[in-house]
Amino acid sequence: MLSTLRLQFRFLFPLLLTLAAAAYLALPLLDSLTLRWFSRDLTLRGVLVTNTLADSLSTAVQEDNEARVQTLFNRAVQDERLVALGVCSPNGELLRRSVAFPADLSCTHAAELAELPLPKLPLAGGAVHVGMHKLMLDGSKVGDLVLLHDLSFVERRSQDTQKYLIAFMVALGAIIAIITVIVAQLSWRGWVKGAQALLRGEGLLTPLVHSHRDLGPLADDFRDRLRDLDDAYRRSLDRDDHWDPERLRALLHAQLRGDELIVVSNREPYIHEQGSDGVYFKRPASGLVTAVEPVMRACSGTWIAHGSGSADRSVVDKHDRVMVPPGSDEYTLRRIWLTPEEEQGYYYGFANEGLWPLCHVAHVRPVFRESDWETYKRVNERFADAVVAEARSEDPVVLVQDYHFALLPALIRKRLPRATILTFWHIPWPNPESFSICPWRNELLEGLLGSTIVGFHTRYHCKNFIETVERNLEARTEHEHSTITINKQTTLIESYPISIAWPSDEERAAWPSVALCRSTVRERLGLPAEHKLAVGVDRFDYTKGILERIHAVERMLEKHPKLVGSFSLVQVAAPSRSDLDEYKAFQQRIRQVTDRVNGRFGRPGCQAVYLLAEHHEHDAVTELYRAADVCVVTSLHDGMNLVCKEFVAARDDEQGVLMLSRFAGAAAELNEALIVNPYHVEEGADALYRAITMPAAEQRERMSNLRMTVRDFNVYRWAGRMLADAARWRLRERIEARMLKHNHD
Ligand code: F6P
Repeated sequence: MLSTLRLQFRFLFPLLLTLAAAAYLALPLLDSLTLRWFSRDLTLRGVLVTNTLADSLSTAVQEDNEARVQTLFNRAVQDERLVALGVCSPNGELLRRSVAFPADLSCTHAAELAELPLPKLPLAGGAVHVGMHKLMLDGSKVGDLVLLHDLSFVERRSQDTQKYLIAFMVALGAIIAIITVIVAQLSWRGWVKGAQALLRGEGLLTPLVHSHRDLGPLADDFRDRLRDLDDAYRRSLDRDDHWDPERLRALLHAQLRGDELIVVSNREPYIHEQGSDGVYFKRPASGLVTAVEPVMRACSGTWIAHGSGSADRSVVDKHDRVMVPPGSDEYTLRRIWLTPEEEQGYYYGFANEGLWPLCHVAHVRPVFRESDWETYKRVNERFADAVVAEARSEDPVVLVQDYHFALLPALIRKRLPRATILTFWHIPWPNPESFSICPWRNELLEGLLGSTIVGFHTRYHCKNFIETVERNLEARTEHEHSTITINKQTTLIESYPISIAWPSDEERAAWPSVALCRSTVRERLGLPAEHKLAVGVDRFDYTKGILERIHAVERMLEKHPKLVGSFSLVQVAAPSRSDLDEYKAFQQRIRQVTDRVNGRFGRPGCQAVYLLAEHHEHDAVTELYRAADVCVVTSLHDGMNLVCKEFVAARDDEQGVLMLSRFAGAAAELNEALIVNPYHVEEGADALYRAITMPAAEQRERMSNLRMTVRDFNVYRWAGRMLADAARWRLRERIEARMLKHNHD
């Protein structure tokens, strides 16, 4: 309100000043203008008087009849504005004059004055207008008639006009001021609300939107474009903003006052297995773990996850905790033990047969079983118990990871109302129609809305989520702030593109050279040094586009037979969810297609496709990335995909080409990749050919730009942005709570 008034004052003050200045400048101008108009009138009047008097006056002057002349003069001056008259001879001598004619006004002076644009003669009784007109008799000039008109009436009128003008300006200023205030008060808010309503597709435009349904999507689209522009703008501003583990730690300590951090995920970051030589540990093939592990190492805290390794129980303490990473003990891993039934219903069943295909457009039907749902609920409750048990304060910061825990945020919120819960959904969020397939959609949405923040990789997924909530729940959405409020709980829905930790100098120094990686990998496969290699590194999952990739290889070799025997695809496919029929069938299919393509294009000692369906440790994968000419990422649908970012990070020689599916979230960031539609085999084949024949200079240019992007937009920035948003939120809530308490007291 105060700011509106200030705004109005800021507008009104210059307006009134302008009006005053206008009046100040206009008055003298108006004065001289009216004087000239009246002078012109008086001149015309003079002509008229002269014409009327000409004959009789000329005759009287010629006859030297003074009495007649005076009679004519007296009659003429009865007109109140005509003050005096005089008659001049043709040689400029004053022959006759009326009583009031100034004695010192000569004919020559009168003639000079009459020539002026404003022929004005100041006299003691007031200024007079001087006019000089020819006196004609029978066509010849007999002299000049000098007419002196009173000008005081003109001045009187001019003063009146000035008064009216000032009054008019004041009235105009007042009217404009009143209208401005009213418009500002009523319309400003109205317009803003109207514009906001337009963006929401309601308000003033509601009837329009309802009658013309096309406008709703248009407004949505408009809003999304604005958001995209905003994101791109913020991204460009953020570029110089350097994020690393220290900065993340500092943020946690400064803005979150060192609050404790708890991460919850299904997959654990370290899996202990029983080998023939004793217990060993491995890192899972998981984008989630790749991203969250460096954050935990930077910030410490507790990571709660399902203990799935065969030796996991043997290394934990009596509270099921173990310090990790093994050997450097930087944070606590708290393991949760699931029964085979729980794992079956919650992980394989509801999460991976239901939600996974539901959220990925990969043309696999989701399966929803009542029993899986019940188990999913139970396991979420078990993890909520673990969070409460691990929390050392009433308001920990809890990072809930992924689709395995859609119900967890609300369960934690119920028991730790002051917790800050950041939920990150690592997979895509489908459109509302697709999501409506799920029989328990409302419960899932309500569960997620227990979070302080729900994060997705892309704005598109945020938009889908918000629309899904609007379609299914009685919640209030604030599109401008991207928040949803339900049961007095407000949740921020925001996009945070996930990334990797940029390798440190020490890490890079430990890598074997690119030349060594190239020769080692080729020797291992029995291939010559100059053999072209493409690599794919994925979990063995139907969403990854492995089939489409092999088809692209096949088609490229058909089109470019000279490459047969000098090019191969090395496909790492880490076994994943292999207990599920869908995965078994898919993996079986890939093996068959690989055999078929190798049957067509394999040559002695050289396969077209090497399918390495086994777990690869991080170093082995890095070696492959460094040995490759091309990295192929052809996901049919992917939240982000971190393989492409890992490949870029591994190529400090600035060589190698990234071929990337447009359906991976990463495609929005990694513009210098060769972006492909994996469903279009021909396009994939051509892109692959272009990649393996790309000149080194072009590779360098693309790769150096990609590297800059991945280095700057690293995982510390991902976590940092989320935690900074959370810190702001916490601060706001704390202030609100204090205010509430204060008001109560
Ligand atoms: O992509 C979703 C996700 O949870 C990733 O974060 C992770 O890479 C993968 O799935 C892990 O799958 P799983 O734990 O089932 O092997």
